[in-house]
Amino acid sequence: MSTRTLVRGGLVITAAEETHADVLIEDGRIAALAAHGSAAADAWTADSTIDATGKYVIPGGVDAHTHMEMPFGGTFASDTFETGTRAAAWGGTTTIIDFAIQSKGGSLGEGLDTWHAKADGKCAIDYAFHMIMSDVNESSLKEMDRLVSGGVSSFKLFTAYPGVFLSDDGQILRAMQRAGSNGGLIMTHAENGLAIDVLVEQALARGERDPRYHGEVRHALLEAEATHRVIKLSQVAGAPLYVVHVSAQQAVAELVRARDEGLPVYGETCPQYLFLSTDNLAEPDFEGAKYVCSTPLRPAEHQAALWRGLRSNDLQVVSTDHCPFCFKGQKDLGKGDFSKIPNGMPGVENRMDLLHQAVVDGHISRRRWIEIACAAPARMFGLYPQKGTITPGADADIVVYDPAAEQVMSAATHHMNVDYSAYEGKRVTGRVETVLSRGVPVIDSREYTGHAGHGAFVPRGLGEYAH
Ligand code: URP
Ligand code: ZN
Ligand code: ZN
Repeated sequence: MSTRTLVRGGLVITAAEETHADVLIEDGRIAALAAHGSAAADAWTADSTIDATGKYVIPGGVDAHTHMEMPFGGTFASDTFETGTRAAAWGGTTTIIDFAIQSKGGSLGEGLDTWHAKADGKCAIDYAFHMIMSDVNESSLKEMDRLVSGGVSSFKLFTAYPGVFLSDDGQILRAMQRAGSNGGLIMTHAENGLAIDVLVEQALARGERDPRYHGEVRHALLEAEATHRVIKLSQVAGAPLYVVHVSAQQAVAELVRARDEGLPVYGETCPQYLFLSTDNLAEPDFEGAKYVCSTPLRPAEHQAALWRGLRSNDLQVVSTDHCPFCFKGQKDLGKGDFSKIPNGMPGVENRMDLLHQAVVDGHISRRRWIEIACAAPARMFGLYPQKGTITPGADADIVVYDPAAEQVMSAATHHMNVDYSAYEGKRVTGRVETVLSRGVPVIDSREYTGHAGHGAFVPRGLGEYAH
């Protein structure tokens, strides 16, 4: 027997348009949209009706960059797939793409199996995987083809973290060539890790040990240099490129130049680079450690270039790079030595609200909000139109969003498994009210009604942006 749900009376916002329409959901998929009060909409009957009068009806968010339970610096990111996807749902995100990791000496397949074992049966919302390649060799290059056809169609390579994740230029070029032929998308963490390690050593020798030096040694020009380099490598390989967590205005300039030349080069930034700055890294009493992530937060002057890039489509996606570590017991591994602070920040629950605040503040339009947070990540990573929009046939991943509600972000009220909020005390306008994942309420009028195991692994196709 089929199940029908109606979402009545809201303003439906997609990346393409805004329509005063009712939405009919049948068996977890969007069946139809029709104008409020139209004969078609009035004739619909359903098992349950959600009143969205005065609210936005938007696609569930697609967060294309998370790290649940990621091992880093001798510890693990504090959100499990269970806690992290529950928090994502609270924040209006209905799909995450997390990073499985190939260990050195291991295969891509082993890394993927490990991440499936962590996630399968645990998630509140749907999930997919990218693959981090830490050991590019003949065998892992061959394996890339099998991953692409199995729905893991993107690969992250690092020019940073020597001895851990860093690939040399030859390895990056080879992976790009392979992606150029199998349709995969190469993602890069672009910072010059070898040069950064020299600056780290010199800073520590001078006695510069506080969290703020993390931002100084990870110099903006070393992000720009690596961004330029991976762009050129992708040009030589004839493969598209997606640069993750762009924070420096000089790196944005490299992307703009490449795109002006017509290259298939794409960029992602994150809320922390749009809303926070080196002022946070400089907070006293080791509080700055809460904001240690890589690429690092930059001086506030860099934010204008990021907002401009998002408006001009030189940056296409805002993801969170959610990788939380508790202030007590994890971040403090780096007390007295900033280079030992686990890199990463929480944010999976905050992204949709912060970007709505950007609409309120006039940085972006409502449709651009949906584009950069839902539609573009879905298209970029082969999930569209199953995810990222509201159209007949799409999964009924829908958020009823109250644009007038006021909230104050705080660790006391958030659902992420981490003992601080990077946005503690920040007042924002707008709040998630109800969240459907494939038609099933996960958040119902601000009550959690989901459960671990509802979320399914979603095999992805090829990215549409790049092909
Ligand atoms: O600091 C960060 N970004 N931690 C997560 C790993 C990464 O490089 O994305
Ligand atoms: Zn990274
Ligand atoms: Zn990351």
